[in-house]
Amino acid sequence: MKNSSYIAGFSFYVPESVLTNKDLEKLVDTNDEWIISRTGIRQRHIVSHQACSDLAYEASLKALERTCLKPEDITHIITATFTPDTYVPNAACIIMEKLGIRGIPAMDVNAACTGFIYGIELARGLCYVSPGAKVLLVASEVVTSRINMKDRSTSVIFADGAGACIISNQTFDDDVPSGCVQDVVLKADGSLGPLLTVKGGGSAHAMVPGQVVGDDFFVQMEGREVFKHAVRSMRDVSLEIMNRNSLTADDIDLFIPHQANIRIIEAVAKIMNIKDEKIFVNVQDYGNTSAASVPIALADAWEKGRIKPGYLALLVAFGGGFTWGATLIRF
Ligand SMILES: CC(C)(COP(=O)(O)OP(=O)(O)OC[C@H]1O[C@@H](n2cnc3c(N)ncnc32)[C@H](O)[C@@H]1OP(=O)(O)O)[C@@H](O)C(=O)NCCC(=O)NCCS
Repeated sequence: MKNSSYIAGFSFYVPESVLTNKDLEKLVDTNDEWIISRTGIRQRHIVSHQACSDLAYEASLKALERTCLKPEDITHIITATFTPDTYVPNAACIIMEKLGIRGIPAMDVNAACTGFIYGIELARGLCYVSPGAKVLLVASEVVTSRINMKDRSTSVIFADGAGACIISNQTFDDDVPSGCVQDVVLKADGSLGPLLTVKGGGSAHAMVPGQVVGDDFFVQMEGREVFKHAVRSMRDVSLEIMNRNSLTADDIDLFIPHQANIRIIEAVAKIMNIKDEKIFVNVQDYGNTSAASVPIALADAWEKGRIKPGYLALLVAFGGGFTWGATLIRF
């Protein structure tokens, strides 16, 4: 049975406040040259007082506007995040309230930086069991809420932002730019979990009233090991989805990887023989915004005219858990 899903309304929002590498030099023992050469990041956007749902709300409004939909046309909300406003209520319920919608399912999915790709697959499933569904998929992260800005191994990398889209198994109006989700491959391996963690406050690391948070409240990362697994897993899942769709690197018009680190992106693209001009990179401007990274890159690529009708895009991500995944979208 044919199960086509369409994706439209590519949108993103980042907080106004910009933190440059020079700004970070004043906070922690680092320097602009080291950050650029090791990560490719020149600046990132960080919140002042906004929460996950505030960023998500702004990105979602744009996605609705770009698909000519009203909030009440939405049938499901999925939020991909590991930094929700609160554990309960979930971020999707808070976003729903901000959008003025009631009575539809609203859920969060936590697959760290792979959350958006996981969300696409969940949205496809919902469209399959509920034909006519219009799923708002929004990935939003205030990663800095779980970063110790004095820890230079993480504070130079992570940042805040949100990206949104609408997924449906019905085509959108002709004047609404959209793509067809052709395939999704998802993976996870819990044995690698200890390499990238945020433990504090979880039920295995419960806190008591008055307790001061420890280092484990913030992102803890074995950078070098994460780097190796990121390259391997993004390569493997990209090759798997290409092979099972009988594609070669020449068939991919645009490669949109998780914006974790320019060296990871270049290493994956090189092994896969993807030409430089087909790789979309904006890590220099936004840093690593976790689950929001891929939809921000997708929307940014769209706004910059990098996506043309007929193009085949390969989106791939990797994150804590570990989780990883890829999707193919034909525009
Ligand atoms: C974090 C990362 C940028 C560090 O780069 P690296 O090349 O592995 O650097 P290392 O940790 O080996 O450190 C190299 C040197 O730089 C120093 N260093 C580490 N962080 C630094 C910083 N922010 N500024 C300046 N120097 C730094 C180290 O102390 C070390 O110094 P030494 O050689 O004198 O001992 C890199 O490992 C990485 O990107 N990993 C993947 C992270 C990631 O993408 N996570 C998200 C996945 S979703």
